Formats: sequence, structure tokens, C-alpha cells
Amino acid sequence: MAKKVILDVDPGIDDAMVLCLALFDPAIEVIAVTSTGGNVTPQVASRNLHAIIEYLDPPRLPRIGFGTEPDDGLPVDGRYVHGIDGLGGTDLPSAALLTQHPAEKVICDAVRSAPDEVTIITLAPLTNLARAFQRDPELPQLINQVVIMGGNLDVSGNITPAAEFNMYCDPIAARQVFQSPCTKTLIPLDVTNRITLTLGHLDQLPAESTKIGHFLRSILKPAFRAYRQRFGLEGIHIHDMITYMAAIHPELFTTKEVAGNVETIGELTRGMTVFDRRRVPEWQSNMEVAYFIEKEEVIQKTLEGLHYAAGCE
Ligand code: BDR
Ligand code: CA
Repeated sequence: MAKKVILDVDPGIDDAMVLCLALFDPAIEVIAVTSTGGNVTPQVASRNLHAIIEYLDPPRLPRIGFGTEPDDGLPVDGRYVHGIDGLGGTDLPSAALLTQHPAEKVICDAVRSAPDEVTIITLAPLTNLARAFQRDPELPQLINQVVIMGGNLDVSGNITPAAEFNMYCDPIAARQVFQSPCTKTLIPLDVTNRITLTLGHLDQLPAESTKIGHFLRSILKPAFRAYRQRFGLEGIHIHDMITYMAAIHPELFTTKEVAGNVETIGELTRGMTVFDRRRVPEWQSNMEVAYFIEKEEVIQKTLEGLHYAAGCE
């Protein structure tokens, strides 16, 4: 039976790449997609989400939920990598926003409709999930698993020396989710940084003549430019795609139990993930964290999944 999945996204180039694959993946049923502010404002993220789904025209339409800003606003955005519109300035036709259901309500309804069956994959700040938990305090126990793109264990942050972008944007929400009693797996930068998508991989994407091939090139090429200019890298990280793969192909990752929390107020350390690694830890384990990835297999599965999706057009 196909795994029921909710995707929480802030599209965002690597978020958009995941949508291209996930909405056609025969291994899963995407029952809902929710937008969050992060790489761009929640309004732009919602518009992008809607436009991507309209453009891709997947065989099954998920419910869509729209997010709003964290209570104390977004401290930063990701336009330095994702471009002014969050999608590298792509030529995607804009789509009208239809009924705008609140993201947290859509998450609650979707989980309640299939208790214990739903996997939530968060590829953005945790604002929506924390709000869903506030709205329905029993929800954490009704979720099969939450797989979170975020945090860093033994490598530096990517938005500050201490913090990973998704954690930094809404650390209070992240802490609420970390402390909730749901089963969760964190996919930190330690693992997502291990894969660099190169220009060689770009050539292996579905053909430019397909809708997906065209769209992927239009969003990824500007990302390559941004990574070269900003980081001096000849390739890009696809954090969200790696996280998706960890949720759908967990056999390609190795995880360990940890006790983790998020710094919410530090002057230099806001959004830093902190783990109790003392000889005798005093915090209780509350999540799994991935620390090893089968790199070649994950790239292979990514390319295969995108080709499969393009073949469904
Ligand atoms: C995360 O930050 C965003 O810019 C990406 O989409 C990803 O979710 C990586 O730190
Ligand atoms: Ca993202």
C-alpha cells in the first residue's frame, strides 16, 4: 500500500525539485502539501506551490494548505540562493490562489483522516507543524513519523556559523516539535551536505523537451550560478531532496538515537541544534538523527524518480 505523505514546503528550488518527484512517486500518496515562509514569504511560497502544482498537473491532486508568518516574523530569507521569486526567476505561469485553507488545519485533517498512517516530511521552518500541534494536542501521537530537514550535528550552520536555515527561521516552532511526543527523524546538514549535484548530473535529468525536464533546468541553472558566486562551489546541495529520500528509502541512511533541542534566544546561536552528548546524558532521547548516507544510491534514486515523473506527463 502506498505510504500516505504530507509535504511541508517553502518553494524554494530544492523544495520544487521534491514536488516534481513526489507528486508522481508510485511508492507514496501525497495527501496534502502545505506552504511555509522561509526561503520566501509565506505568500510567495503559497503562490509558488500553487503554480508548481498547476504546471505539473499530477495524477492525484493533494489538499493544499497555506501558511502564515511565524508569530515574531521571519528573520531572514533564502533569496540569495533561490532568487527573488524563490524559483530562480523561472518562467512558470502564475496561478490564481483558490480557497486558502490554513496549513495547520489541513495537516490536522489529513492526519485525523488516517490515524497512525501518515508520514510528514518537513522541508521548511517548522511553523506549520508546531501550529498543528497547538491546534490538536493529540496529533503528535497519531502521526506515523515526522522526517525533518534541519539542524547540524558536527558541521557548521549554513545561515549563521551555528544554525541551519530552517531551524534559524522559527526556532520556537522547532523546539515545540522537538519536544513533542511524535516519532521523528532529523536529516541534518551533516548528511545533506554530503551530496553535491554537479553539471554532469544536470545532463542526466529528463530531457528538456519534457515539462519536468524544462522546469528543473529553469530552476537549477540559476542555483548553480548562485552557488558558484556565493560559495565558490561548482555544484549545488539539494537538502530537501535528500530528506525526501531519507523518508521514502530509509535503508539508504544510517541513524542513531539522540536527545536534541533548539536554541531559541542565543545572540550568536539562535536556531542552533543542541544534542546531549555528555558521557552520561541527562536529557531523554527524543529523535533519530541521520549520520550516514549511501550517496551514489541516493543520486541514482533521485534521477530515476525524476525520469519516472517525466514519463507520466
Ligand atoms: C534548507 O534551507 C532552505 O533554503 C532549503 O530549501 C532547505 O530546506 C537547507 O538549510
Ligand atoms: Ca526548503
